[in-house]
Amino acid sequence: MPSFIETQFPIARLSAEAYKERKANNGQTLTRLGKWWGRKPLILVRASILGMLMPASGDPKRDREIFLKILTMDDDGAWQRQKGEIPVAAWLEAAPPDIREEYFTARGWLRGLTDEAKEEVCARIWQNLDAEGRKALDDQRRRPVPDREEYEALPYAERIRHCDRPENIEGPTPEAWKEINAHLGTTAASLPELVEQLGQRVFGHTPRVGDAFCGGGSIPFEAARIGCEAFGSDLNPVAGLLTWASLNLLGGGREVQEEVMRVQAEALAAADKQVTEWGIEHNEQGERADAFLYCVEVKPEGCDYFIPLAPSWLVGEKSKVVCKWHRDPGAGRLRPEIVTVSADEVKAYKAGKDATVANSRVIDPFDPERSWSVESLRGAEGLRRWTNDDLVPRPGDVFQERLYCIRWVKTVTKNGKTKEVRRYAAPDEADLAREARALDLLRERFAAWQREGFIPSKPIISGYNTEQPIRERGWTHWHHLFTPRQLLTHGLLAEISAKLATSKEAQVGCLLGMGRIANWDSRLCLWMSNASNEGGSHVFNSQALNTFFNCSNRPISKLETAWPVFGEAKGEPFSAKSNVIPADARDLRETCDLWVTDPPYADAVNYHELGDFFLTWQDKQLAKAFPEWTPDARAELAVRGDGEDFRRSMVDIYKNLACHMPDNGLQMVQFTHQNPAVWAGLGMILWAAGLKATAAWTISTETEAVGIKKGNYVTGTVCMVLRKRTSPEPGFLDEVYPLVEDEVRRQIAARQALDEDGEPNFNDADYQLAAYAAALKVLTQYATLDGRDVEHEVFAVRDKNTKSDFQVVIERAIEIACDTLVPGGLGNYWRDLSLVERYYLRALDIESRGERRKGMYEELARGFGVTDIRPLLKSDKANGARMHTASGFAGGHLAPVGGVEDAVALTGRGRGRAASGAPHPFAASPLRHLLFAIRETTAADHDPEPGRQYLRDTFGQSYWQRRERFIGLLEWLAALGNAEGMAEWQEDSEAARILVGRLRNDQA
Ligand SMILES: C[S@@+](CC[C@H](N)C(=O)[O-])C[C@H]1O[C@@H](n2cnc3c(N)ncnc32)[C@H](O)[C@@H]1O
Repeated sequence: MPSFIETQFPIARLSAEAYKERKANNGQTLTRLGKWWGRKPLILVRASILGMLMPASGDPKRDREIFLKILTMDDDGAWQRQKGEIPVAAWLEAAPPDIREEYFTARGWLRGLTDEAKEEVCARIWQNLDAEGRKALDDQRRRPVPDREEYEALPYAERIRHCDRPENIEGPTPEAWKEINAHLGTTAASLPELVEQLGQRVFGHTPRVGDAFCGGGSIPFEAARIGCEAFGSDLNPVAGLLTWASLNLLGGGREVQEEVMRVQAEALAAADKQVTEWGIEHNEQGERADAFLYCVEVKPEGCDYFIPLAPSWLVGEKSKVVCKWHRDPGAGRLRPEIVTVSADEVKAYKAGKDATVANSRVIDPFDPERSWSVESLRGAEGLRRWTNDDLVPRPGDVFQERLYCIRWVKTVTKNGKTKEVRRYAAPDEADLAREARALDLLRERFAAWQREGFIPSKPIISGYNTEQPIRERGWTHWHHLFTPRQLLTHGLLAEISAKLATSKEAQVGCLLGMGRIANWDSRLCLWMSNASNEGGSHVFNSQALNTFFNCSNRPISKLETAWPVFGEAKGEPFSAKSNVIPADARDLRETCDLWVTDPPYADAVNYHELGDFFLTWQDKQLAKAFPEWTPDARAELAVRGDGEDFRRSMVDIYKNLACHMPDNGLQMVQFTHQNPAVWAGLGMILWAAGLKATAAWTISTETEAVGIKKGNYVTGTVCMVLRKRTSPEPGFLDEVYPLVEDEVRRQIAARQALDEDGEPNFNDADYQLAAYAAALKVLTQYATLDGRDVEHEVFAVRDKNTKSDFQVVIERAIEIACDTLVPGGLGNYWRDLSLVERYYLRALDIESRGERRKGMYEELARGFGVTDIRPLLKSDKANGARMHTASGFAGGHLAPVGGVEDAVALTGRGRGRAASGAPHPFAASPLRHLLFAIRETTAADHDPEPGRQYLRDTFGQSYWQRRERFIGLLEWLAALGNAEGMAEWQEDSEAARILVGRLRNDQA
């Protein structure tokens, strides 16, 4: 029996939920534990696992309803999840007498309770109630959209803007469980119970879910949270640490988290005390520094002073503070002055006034005409490479570093109220003495701390990302990416934590804390002056190790938010078993019923390089907490690239996983694809690994700023469902084609049936994907194709222009898909249109449904074999693609109709590439001439006569044979202007409507 996910997946709703989860940024469940790239949304993981466990019945509509209920993504669930406060009087009424007495007065809350305490009391009241009591209380919730009908009239994505995420609520209601159990024949009252029962049914035990590329831990974490036994492994120990923490700290429940929070708070307090005693962050006026601003300075040849570098000297937009530089007679270094300026000046500084670096050139602040290229300053040989002992630049180095501004903060009491007052100032002698003291203190501890691993000691291995700090600054060791102050405060925290953390959980919490502060407090943290946030940025704002000319440094008091891995303790401990190991996926020996993996694909992120930024702060202590782990990224084993090595590693890994699953097990491979064409590659890999695809779905999971490399392609995660190929069946190409054709049509029809009522679930990209999936589904059943072994095919050396049979079959599948999806109303005329005409109409069709991604227009073009779409596009912006309207074409791209046949003969079936000198096939197509007739009608103020005359002149006698088709096409185009977002078509659509009337009444 197929699983639910092999027959359908609620991708529209799921995409909306995944998007909402992503948009929560720091509010995402796992992000606080530490940075990892490409984390998968938990809701997608939850839906994937449940979709693999739930059987499909013969009733797809009911299956879908039940599946959505399980996820609380059905209409009832989305209503229940709508947030809104329950009035305090309702809580009071529902509270048992002891709680009422302790926390309430007759009118409401007892005075002095914190929000946190109130939340806890509410949770206790809630837990105390039965289903009926909960419902009664929930009914009193003040929902933002209180009218259910009105709420349900909203599109799903808008509805859930008012909702808690499914992971943050208890789960389906008792009523929903009744329906779920009735449909599935289960007796569950919670997700773990359902998972257990479904797992028992299929595998005879609690289902075991594994992820061999577990990264930040989304997959094992969510698997364990819903009751599966979870296994996670990753080559990178930082990923191992994050995953372990997700399962054992977040999944460890309140008590564990409280212990971590306590240790971290004590460590920070002790470090703060020590720093205060050292006197390196306080001044004589009783103020404490809350930001140190450093910049690089250089002395180019021919200049007799050092030029401090920054692309803007605006310090704070809101506080209207800038830094001005002065030259004192005889001094070789400029003197900073921190001043408050007018709003106009702020604007000027924001726009780069007095900037000393622009367009990679250093500019003399006193003679803007004089500038030097940054590259030339580095010299032909490059910069001197720092040695391990270098903590600051040496006197002769090209790039020097200086402190130019400090933000001071003081707590003042006025009229009984305390408030914090901040001011910016240039450093004075005493401040510089404190700088020197911080450096001395660090030097005293440096060797011992490196030995213990309290500060980094590893060299930076040059690579795609890591080469940047080496080349741009001469930094050769990871600790060079931190100022002496940062090394001192972070090292101190590490040393104290190591003493205070006695449990493994606390040790891990503190190690992750080290990673967090490294990200938030490094030489790679840019100072941001914008009004909304005058403060330091974090390193992995971008997915690179960018160096900056000016950076910010947080004093220890400012690590208060970055250091703790928990804001609050919450949740019950997970009951399921879990295990995490750092391992190369080729070496795994664990067996799992379901493998859900998200492999590194085509070098989108250099995990082994970027991960070292954190590992270098954790390696030696990590080895103490996990003596069985190798505290090294083992970069040589990392799956990377997209060439032969990559394919080989992937085939080996997926072969290994296929060996380590039962015959009735399932796999899901997720990857965030940029170019749908990579499908052929990935499909071949999995095929060669002994797997067969049973379904594929695309979920939009990426928000704009996720940092994965983007092209003009669809940003979505493809989820491919696979099973083990258990029999070595041979396949033959001539048999495969008709099977693929049938399968494509079947898949599309099944999706269309699910789309028919209610909101559309699938968009054009999904229909296209259905075609890929269909091709994969058919092909991957076979172990050989025309006698050739699949693995041999994957590794066959081909030149760029030669396609594998696999690619050819996939391309054919796309063509079938494109042709199967005829825009509504054009069915009678479709067959008579050339491919390029069909492409234009389908492109208008997707445009009228809001599709603006250029990648989709290109992908569609591939399906119709149109190779040049430029003449047809009005805009080819990545996310703003549109087709020309009839009037938009004006008189351009028009060629005699006779040219159609010529062009077709030249380019084959009217494909959209003109042979050199020949017109573009669209230019010579009847549709193009029809569009011109519309344009003539629009231009004549909707008088149809010139348009009609044009058609008669152009087509001569054949006008009469073509008239019916013209009428059909004009009717379709007449409706286009009514679609949302198609206002550009309104005039031409009106003209088409009038022209139709004229053509209908036309007589010879
Ligand atoms: C796309 S990420 C996985 C992200 C993860 N699904 C999450 O939600 O956070 C891919 C992972 O593969 C890991 N990796 C690369 N080569 C590997 C290998 N040979 N064996 C195991 N893991 C590897 C990387 O360290 C990286 O964490």
